[in-house]
Amino acid sequence: MSDEDSNIRFGVVGTGRITRRLVADLQSTDHVEVTAIASRTQERAQWYADQYGIASAVKGYQGLLQREDVDAVYISLPPSMHAEWAIAAAEHGLHVLCEKPLAISAEQAVSIDEVCCSQGVRWLDATGWLHHPRTASFRDWIGDGRLGEIGHVSAAVSFYQPFQSGDHRLDATLGGGCVLDLGWYACGLVRFACDDLPLEVSADVLVREGVSQRLTAMFWMPDGVTATISCGYDTATRKWFEVAGSNASLVCDDFTRPWAERPPRCWIHDASGKVESHTFEGSQERLMIARLASGECLKPWQQIAIDTHLILDAIHESVTMGGGRVPVLRRAGM
Ligand SMILES: NC(=O)c1ccc[n+]([C@@H]2O[C@H](COP(=O)([O-])OP(=O)(O)OC[C@H]3O[C@@H](n4cnc5c(N)ncnc54)[C@H](OP(=O)(O)O)[C@@H]3O)[C@@H](O)[C@H]2O)c1
Repeated sequence: MSDEDSNIRFGVVGTGRITRRLVADLQSTDHVEVTAIASRTQERAQWYADQYGIASAVKGYQGLLQREDVDAVYISLPPSMHAEWAIAAAEHGLHVLCEKPLAISAEQAVSIDEVCCSQGVRWLDATGWLHHPRTASFRDWIGDGRLGEIGHVSAAVSFYQPFQSGDHRLDATLGGGCVLDLGWYACGLVRFACDDLPLEVSADVLVREGVSQRLTAMFWMPDGVTATISCGYDTATRKWFEVAGSNASLVCDDFTRPWAERPPRCWIHDASGKVESHTFEGSQERLMIARLASGECLKPWQQIAIDTHLILDAIHESVTMGGGRVPVLRRAGM
């Protein structure tokens, strides 16, 4: 996708809270520029264009897809709108960077993948942590035997009452609730750490104001490994995991995004209490954008996104069954 001589020109779809940060990341990534931003209203689009230093403000998302000066879109809409606009963008021949969760179901996620493939465009979900070099080290450490035999993985992701007025997180019809919003990270972490899908899932949620506010789930993985996740809007910020092996544990307290003013960090704790500390550098978002803009095969990350939706689908089913243990369905050929 990237050509030494020309920039990838991004159009931004939506003006949400996350947009400012990602626009800055797009604008500071080599060979990438932001040429237009679209909102449901012209006034809002213009206000954000002025704030972010973007040349064109567009009324309506469709108008942005039809522009000559856009090669790719960054979609920062509520989750229930991701699939519709990712597919529409792909059908206009545009590459897609879509906020997490990629969609609201595995079926929608697969549709995005299929349309992008058939249109010959590239896509990624904006799950930055997967693209940090630290994550490649997680993979090495989990695989190289230093932890011993992996027995259990746990992850916790929460934000205490992160809501603003009219927040899509409190609207079930927009894909609100912590299952999709935060469960996305925790389920993705388990999928990443085990490099596999769970066989079965059991989950329960606490519902308030019509959406899930707390999720607790247990996963039965292949080879006798188990995993547990805890997510919610009713505890202070947590973004940590532990991969526990027979010799040592890999522990990280900032896997979704480093704490402000602190480098990405993690520890390997062994059975004697010895702790090996690691810190890293680099912007996970810029690396993610550069990866999308490169010619690199994106299949490993796309597969994690689709698998994460398969896990979330099973969680929804288990919750509907009152916490029953349900299988995670694999797609044929995957
Ligand atoms: N990667 C991350 O670290 C991260 C962090 C936070 C959020 N996110 C994800 O980013 C996405 C957006 O989150 P956000 O917190 O930025 O959302 P937000 O502040 O609620 O903004 C969503 C935007 O979507 C547009 N929109 C269109 N129809 C809407 C509707 N019916 N209701 C509300 N908004 C509507 C609005 O833009 P216009 O009015 O301009 O059209 C609005 O500004 C979500 O999928 C979220 O999970 C990711």
